[in-house]
Amino acid sequence: MSVENAGAKNILVIHGPNLNLLGSREPGIYGYETLQDINRNLSQAAEKVQVRIAFFQSNAESALIDRIQQTMTDGTDFIIINPAAYTHTSVAMRDALAAVRLPFIEVHLSNIFSRETFRHHSYFSDMAVGVISGLGSKGYELAMEYALTIRQ
Ligand code: DQA
Repeated sequence: MSVENAGAKNILVIHGPNLNLLGSREPGIYGYETLQDINRNLSQAAEKVQVRIAFFQSNAESALIDRIQQTMTDGTDFIIINPAAYTHTSVAMRDALAAVRLPFIEVHLSNIFSRETFRHHSYFSDMAVGVISGLGSKGYELAMEYALTIRQ
């Protein structure tokens, strides 16, 4: 990544339910990379541009909400989030993101629009800076690259 960092300095990456199973979970859809692989690649990219990056995964909606709320005091200035199945159900996580008022990019490994109809709606997309869906783990890297270009 060869981007001059004029933007985010403190990024939080949030992974929703079942993403802890990446690597073995429906690999035809989500690929063979594990969550640890994805986080490691992002950490390495962040280190190169001297950005602080933190990761959080939970299967519990309340824990995800608590972590989003923590950003009000922990210095996070940008969120990259894959809400996973909560994308399609969670008004509560949407409200948490609205409350903390941080810019965020919504990422999905799969193309949610080419899948079942119930995956086509997201409670997050209209509030997001942007949405990346269907580019696999590359989506997280592109989201980070973009976050670095946004003037705060
Ligand atoms: C997902 C897509 C969601 O519909 C699904 O529930 C997930 C993962 C993705 O990354 O493609 O768990 O967010």
